[in-house]
Amino acid sequence: MTAESTDPGQGQALGRPAAAAALTGDSTAEDMATLTRNSSVYVYEVPVRLWHWINAAAILVLCLTGYLIGSPPPSLEAAEATHQFFFGYIRFAHFAAGMIMTVGFFGRIYWSFVGNSHSKQLFRLPLLNRKWWSEVWDEAKWYAFLKKRPKKYVGHNPLAQIAMFFFMTVGMSFMILTGFALYSEGVGRGSLIDRIFGPLLDVVGGSQMMHQIHHLGMWAIVIFIIIHIYAAIREDIMSRKSMVSTMISGTRTFKDDDPN
Ligand code: HEM
Ligand code: HEM
Repeated sequence: MTAESTDPGQGQALGRPAAAAALTGDSTAEDMATLTRNSSVYVYEVPVRLWHWINAAAILVLCLTGYLIGSPPPSLEAAEATHQFFFGYIRFAHFAAGMIMTVGFFGRIYWSFVGNSHSKQLFRLPLLNRKWWSEVWDEAKWYAFLKKRPKKYVGHNPLAQIAMFFFMTVGMSFMILTGFALYSEGVGRGSLIDRIFGPLLDVVGGSQMMHQIHHLGMWAIVIFIIIHIYAAIREDIMSRKSMVSTMISGTRTFKDDDPN
């Protein structure tokens, strides 16, 4: 007996009996009716997804090690001071993750030129578009539980786009500039890094102030991460589309077929 003949509802629902049988061997007629209403769009390409998770891991390491650099733990007495390198490893992990984040960021900028339209959202805000601003307001109401039904977006919603632009695009640029200015002190006067980033130390008023604003930048990013993970999981449950799996598979699945 073939799969089609076990459930007469399948073929009618899809209008393609063979495809229906091949794809959904365990489905009931009810499942099939639901399946035809769902739609999915490939939105986040491989480089965007790879960058997202590598960047998230790098930022996690940067926050943990950065916090320890700013509030160092008491010296370990695992061995004679000469024979232990505990804080050196913390700083090394910070600088390595900082370099990975920087290279990834430039790669992501490159991809915004050659990737699909959604890959550009992180770098370009349609600030002069009035409809876009009204949708930002709309999303704010939805997040504040003041609206019953959210709109459907294929890429980032306008409120998420603004948050990502300021906390990530601007925030990461800030952390890279201030981080490399601090790094230039260690590399030494007259080095290439010192010649490029060293002058920034004078602009902000010295090394101590640079440490402080670099540190403050971390807390802005930590706030973003908390809100971001809350929003991703909340939207996965409450919105009309998939979220977390979209950043894994690249495919956005919509839960209904209503275009409005
Ligand atoms: C999300 C990105 C980053 C975060 C959250 C972060 C966080 C921090 C924090 C909290 C500190 C301690 C500041 C203090 O209180 O003195 C620090 C220090 C430092 N960071 Fe970053 N950082 C980031 C990116 C970078 C990058 C891209 C570089 C460039 C290589 C960098 C290089 C440094 C250096 C050189 C120090 C000073 C180390 C020392 O004084 O021993 N950081 N970072
Ligand atoms: C350090 C942690 C993280 C950082 C810095 C971060 C940053 C970002 C950035 C910059 C984007 C925009 C991607 C682009 O357009 O290229 C994004 C999107 C996204 N992130 Fe994260 N992320 C972090 C952790 C997470 C985690 C843990 C999850 C899952 C629970 C997550 C889920 C998502 C999702 C679902 C999107 C797409 C949102 C949408 O479709 O509008 N992120 N994230």
